[in-house]
Amino acid sequence: MANALRLITPRLAEVERFISAQLADAPESVREAGSYVFEGGGKRLRPAMVLLVSRLLGYQGDRDVRYGAVIEMIHTATLVHDDIIDHAALRRGRPTANHRWGNQLTVLLGDWLYTRSMELALEVDDVPVMRVLSRATIEMIEGEMIGLRMSGRLDTDEATYMDIVRRKTAGIFAAATSIPALFEPAFARHRATLTEYGTHLGVCFQIADDLLDLTASESSLGKPVFSDLREGKLTLPFIRLLPRLKRSEREKLAQVLTTGHLGADAERDIRALLDRHGIVDEVRQVAMSFAERATACAAALPAGVERDALAEAPRYVIDREF
Ligand code: IPE
Ligand code: IPE
Ligand code: MG
Ligand code: MG
Repeated sequence: MANALRLITPRLAEVERFISAQLADAPESVREAGSYVFEGGGKRLRPAMVLLVSRLLGYQGDRDVRYGAVIEMIHTATLVHDDIIDHAALRRGRPTANHRWGNQLTVLLGDWLYTRSMELALEVDDVPVMRVLSRATIEMIEGEMIGLRMSGRLDTDEATYMDIVRRKTAGIFAAATSIPALFEPAFARHRATLTEYGTHLGVCFQIADDLLDLTASESSLGKPVFSDLREGKLTLPFIRLLPRLKRSEREKLAQVLTTGHLGADAERDIRALLDRHGIVDEVRQVAMSFAERATACAAALPAGVERDALAEAPRYVIDREF
């Protein structure tokens, strides 16, 4: 993994330059908030996937950088809107854009990023890529909307959770891994495998994110922990926990979910329940099963250091600390 990441480091630097150039050309109000959000860092995992797959396929042009940037811009738009929806004050270790500039400007920044992303595909008349990007973005929005509807509800089931995760997170991963297959006609035969790989990786990624909310620290994660429940979101760990609880315990969870308030005592009690029922290990196993599916897809791709990295990526995603 580390080796392959080193190989794409110079291309990732170009992705950063590409994004900066888009912001540099924008009006001051976009540039200020936009630069702030991108300078906050982030793992750049989705552009890394675009670059890695492009290399794997032997791609020689510069669309890998363009679409690495575009995918990161779309991802960033989802984050700035997501932080408004979730009333989040901290992201990437810094105050969120909504916290600094308010919801009005931040909604518009997200809109600008989405629309500019699509325009960047149209600039080079790339309708097939545009089709994938718009589909992934629509699914992501639908996932957020379904999630919002389920907000505060104790009866969110596993099938609904998986549907939300596939839409809101896996779609953009699948776009990142499959778009390079559109760069040359000869790459097209790998497209289905790459889409499937990205989907499993994305599911694995979101389950890991939902676990990190329970297991990580705010300082390593750069966003508040134990916030999903407070935001009214029943993630997989809690979906698994609920049926095993006594009525009084279940009511405790319900209260957090509906009031959005979680005191230190309640947090300690809920952590104890998660521990008692071995939920973190169990959910990690679920993530592992998606990781294995992704890794199995990678086996069908052309051999090399890039393929090895793709095969290891799901494991990295589960074991990450932020
Ligand atoms: C956060 O994504 C949103 C989810 C899909 C859980 P990342 O964890 O990739 O965010 P950054 O870009 O590294 O900050
Ligand atoms: C991810 O959901 C947001 C999208 C994929 C749109 P989360 O709400 O779990 O993301 P974080 O935890 O705020 O990064
Ligand atoms: Mg959120
Ligand atoms: Mg989260």
